[in-house]
This record gives sequence, C-alpha cells and structure tokens, in this order.
Amino acid sequence: MNTQIDNLLHEYRKFPPSEEFARNAVATTELYEEAKADRLEFWARQARELLDWETPFTRTLDWSNPPFAKWFDDGRLNVAYNCLDRHVEAGNGDRVALHWEGEQGDSRTVTYADLTAEVKRAANVLSGLGIGEGDRVAIYLPMIPEAVVAMLAVARLGAVHSVIFGGFSADSIRSRVDDASAKLVITADGGWRKGKVSALKPAVDAALQARGDLGPQETVTNVLVVKRGENEIDWTDRDLWWHEEMAKAEPEHVAQSFPAENPLFILYTSGTTGKPKGILHTSGGYLTQCAFTHKIVFDLKPESDVYWCTADIGWVTGHSYVVYGPLANGASQVLYEGTPDTPHPGRWWEIIEKYKVTTFYTAPTAIRSFMKLGRKIPKQFDLSSVRLLGSVGEPINPEAWMWYRKVIGGKAAPVVDTWWQTETGAIMISALPGITETKPGSAQVPIPGINVDVVDDDGHHVGTGNGGLLVVAEPWPSMLRGIWGDPERFKETYWEKFGDKHLYFAGDGARLDHDSDIWLLGRVDDVMNVSGHRLSTAEIESALVAHPFTAEAAVVGAHDDTTGQAVVAFVIIKESMLEESAAVEDIAAVLRAHVGEQIGPIARPRDVFIVNELPKTRSGKIMRRLLRDVAEGREVGDTTTLADTTVMQIITGQVTAK
Ligand code: PRX
Repeated sequence: MNTQIDNLLHEYRKFPPSEEFARNAVATTELYEEAKADRLEFWARQARELLDWETPFTRTLDWSNPPFAKWFDDGRLNVAYNCLDRHVEAGNGDRVALHWEGEQGDSRTVTYADLTAEVKRAANVLSGLGIGEGDRVAIYLPMIPEAVVAMLAVARLGAVHSVIFGGFSADSIRSRVDDASAKLVITADGGWRKGKVSALKPAVDAALQARGDLGPQETVTNVLVVKRGENEIDWTDRDLWWHEEMAKAEPEHVAQSFPAENPLFILYTSGTTGKPKGILHTSGGYLTQCAFTHKIVFDLKPESDVYWCTADIGWVTGHSYVVYGPLANGASQVLYEGTPDTPHPGRWWEIIEKYKVTTFYTAPTAIRSFMKLGRKIPKQFDLSSVRLLGSVGEPINPEAWMWYRKVIGGKAAPVVDTWWQTETGAIMISALPGITETKPGSAQVPIPGINVDVVDDDGHHVGTGNGGLLVVAEPWPSMLRGIWGDPERFKETYWEKFGDKHLYFAGDGARLDHDSDIWLLGRVDDVMNVSGHRLSTAEIESALVAHPFTAEAAVVGAHDDTTGQAVVAFVIIKESMLEESAAVEDIAAVLRAHVGEQIGPIARPRDVFIVNELPKTRSGKIMRRLLRDVAEGREVGDTTTLADTTVMQIITGQVTAK
C-alpha cells in the first residue's frame, strides 16, 4: 500500500492516444455525456443495440427493494443465441470464434458456425441428462473449446453454471457442488500444463466419493468426461464420455428465451470468513455490460481484430472477457490451454506472432514475471500486430505499466488498467482507448453509466488528493444479484457498511489524485490478492488448523515482487507434535503441501513460520497488521492494544532467526 501511494505522489506521466487511434476509436466522448444526462436510458439503449431480445423489455431498472436489483426484467432473451446463432444468421458463420492453441502445439480453428453447432448438440446432450431451466451444472475443465461449449450449452437451456477453477482441489469441488446442489459435473480426463497431463477427473471422483458416491445426499447424477489428456481414468456408472454423447445427440436445437433476470451462473469467490461466497449473476444486464465494456474498452473491430484474454475460464475474467463479452460481440479470439513458459519462456509472444493478436488482456503478475526474465525474450517475436493492451486483477505498478507499453506495445499501444470484481461482473473503472490520456498505474475513470466514489468511513466523498474506500454509488446492469442461498450475507457484506445509503462497498482502498483519477490501493479487509486471485485469510487458516500438527494459525498477505501478495502463515504447533516430529522445516513443508491439497496450489503459503504465540487483542482478535509488518520485514507498528505486548518481540525474534 505504501509503495502505491509513493508512486501516486510522483507519477506525472500521461500518454495521449495517437491521432490515428483517436480518429478510429470505437468509444466517443458523447457516451459520457449521454450517460450523465439519463443514465437509465443510456443503459437501455446499450441493451437494445448490443443484444437481441425475443421479448423487448419496457422496464430498465427496478430498485424498489434495494439491494436486490432487477434490470430489464420484463424482457426475454437467450444468452447463448446472442453469443452464437445470431452471428451465423447475420452471415458471419465463417468468422473464427476461437483460435485454440493446445500446450503441445496442437491447434483448432472454431468458427461461429462450428461453435453454434457444437453448443446445439451439447444442449441436447444436457437436456437428455435431465438438465433444464434453473438446474445447476458444475464445470471443471481445462482451457479447451469444450469449456466454452459447456458453459454456453448450460446457458442455452436456461440452466446455471458453476465453473470451478481446474487448480482447485477435491474439497473445493465438494463444497461448491454441495452449496449449489449441482446435478451434473462436466470435467475432462485432464489438460496439458507444464508439459504434462494434469489430471482432473480424479479430483471429481474424490469429491463425489466423499459422499459415498451416489449416496442419499448426493445431488450429482452424472459426470460428463471430455477426452483430452489420453490418460487412464477410473470409470464409474455415473460417468459418460462427452464425445460419445455428442455423437449420438441431435444436431438441431432451437433456443428458447428466458427472463432477463434468469440466473446465468454462480461463481465462488473468497470472503473474509472461511466459506467461499457463491456470487450470483443473471442474464440480460450481465450480458449488456459485458458486451458494452468489451466493445468500448477494447476498441473492438470484430472484422479485423484478434483478441486474446489470458484468463482461465475458472475466474470471472474468463467468464466475462473470454466467453460472454467477446462472443456476444462476434469477436475472434485466441484461447490457449497451457502455461506461459511451456515449452519455452516466449510461448505467449510466439502465440501473439502466430495469430497476429491485436488486443491483449492479462494480469500484472504475469507482466512482472516477464519483466524479470527480460525484454530479450519478447523481442525475439514479431509483436507489431498489437495495438491495445489491458491489465486486470490487481494494481499495476507504474514500472510494470511502462514496461508493458514499451516492450509488448511497441511504445504506441494504449494500456488500459481495468478495475472490477467477480461481484461487479464487468469492468467498472478504466480508461477508454482513443479518448482518455492514460496514466501509468491508475485505473483512472468509471466507464460511462457507472457511478463510483471514494468515501470516508461515514460514506462522505473524500475529495481530490485524498484516500478512502471505493464504493459504487448506483446499481449497475452486471451487478451481482446476491450470494447463492444467503441473502443476509449479501446485505451485510456489501451494502450495510454505510447505513441505509445503499452504497456498494467493494472492499478496496482507493485514492483520488488531483485530476480526480482513481488509484486502487489494495484490499482493506482480510482478503489477499495473490497473482490477481482473491484468497481469504480465514479459508487458509481453516485449512491449516484442520491439520493434526496445528494448534492455531494466522495468515497474512505480504508484498511479493511477482505475485503482488504472497501467503505467509504463522502457525503454533501442538506440543505433542513438536516433541514427536522432526525438523521445523519438515513441518512447514508438510503444512504447505496440506494447504495445496485442501484448497489448491495457488493457496500454498510462501512462508510458514512456526511460532509459540500469536499477537492478540484483549478480546482475543488476532492482529494481522502486526504479523504483516513482520512478514514484510518492517519495524512492528503500534502494539499497545495487545493483551501481551512482549509477544511481538518473541515472534520477530523467531522469524528473523529462521
Ligand atoms: O482488489 C481488487 C483487485 O481484485 C479484486 C477483485 O478480485 P476478483 O473478484 O477475483 O476479480 C478479479 C478480476 C476482475 C478487487 O477487489 N483488482 C481487480 N482489478 C484491479 C484490482 N486492483 C487494482 N487495479 C485493478 N485494475
């Protein structure tokens, strides 16, 4: 947080768009004026122009029961039809939807006609398995075209998908399947990562076996398995091969329309307590804002652009800017299965050269790791097709922003830093290329039609030059509609911080500079941001405490040059275990591996410090702020509210002795 503020104080560089870029820009300054003049009419026009409605809506927003919003709620549409059939009907069936690149160098070109045909068959497969409107389907797949097909097939039937990131463990699958009472799981034998097949099906098997397979409480009736990895898998009665079912399915499927507020997906994200929150998004408003932002923030020219967003479909960025936004707009995009450094560290740049990518959207953590490797690697490839760059997931430091623009963007491509969240569904704050003078490190301005503010603890505007909490002041079309099954938690978490002002509390600190540009300063709650992914301290602490070694655990996010923040754990080991077991390093290694198994490798702590005490207030609350000081190698801050003020000296001693 400190470095961000320092940067802010010294950052005066600005980059106006080139004249040519500005002349041809998709966005216009009039959009801001139009939205300001009549915000609801502005969104209604976007919804009408960007989407096809089977039944046009007459109501734009119903905010009579805040915070439960309804957008376009008397309209009806089919989300998959909007992403597929209508492009084919408009004569664009031959346009490439997906330039898919496997990690092994295999590739597939999927046109809009192909994708539409696949989704129709898949919709028939799913309805044959009893999936219909409102049913939940869990998707646990690698980055292969079938992942996109599966999501759209679920959407086509008016069912609800819950995509589970392929790096999550069996326990995470089990809790997500249970929370949503999913009927079906779609997975694969595996996917290629780092030069080998990373198996997926065993985690699904382990998750379902935890219930004794098809035991009385089990809601899952079938598992559809895509063949990708060619590895051996265990087969059970509930399993079906995707390719066999697809071959048997009818090719025709007519999309039915569903109400605009029909749920589209649930996506789980970390909160401040241990249990992940099932963020619920619905159809018409979500698709409108995804399509609108994808078009204006990425200056989309669908006939000529090749767009590439590197996010996995398991995260919200993969939902909104790989699947729904780009496909609703008829864009051509790259989809890459593997890791950025396989088989060589220039793989991403090689892909940009191969497909002549024009528009590239990735995360600061990736940019920083490439910076470390040096510009020599990207310089070996022809990146001259790139005309626009985007960043998402965490604050991008000005240094990384400058490197990105210079080395990947050839000193000419505008860089747009886009702020948003799983909860917001789509981009909320971003420069508009061709319009905004960009400023390294700042997300800058809300997009037209979005009203955000930076406020103090009482919800009052802080004014330029000051810092505070980021809020969204008015409802927006792609806003979350709730937390699955938990309306109280929805209200408490996001809407009650400022009394009955109905301000959406994002959980991020922010600052307004003297141009009123917004600088994001990181999370203000107990949520960490590791490589652009949100992890909760509470969730990792629960995993640590679940291990028989552990008596107590506290987790903090500490600054890390590459991943933004890293997980650092302070653990008290049970005395009996300390006596029995071997070296402290071994215990730390066991606990790191344990968290990896319980939650997934991304949650594995970078450091595990074995301590005998944790700093607590008199009421027993762990003071993570002090642990963060230790983890980041700073002088420990104010300890006067600790129950025992000597604890921090002991902990610091133990950590530095290590
Ligand atoms: O802290 C903010 C950070 O990521 C959080 C949202 O995480 P998630 O729901 O996983 O979605 C990530 C992709 C949209 C935010 O609360 N964040 C996201 N984008 C930015 C950012 N922080 C600073 N600048 C950004 N551009």
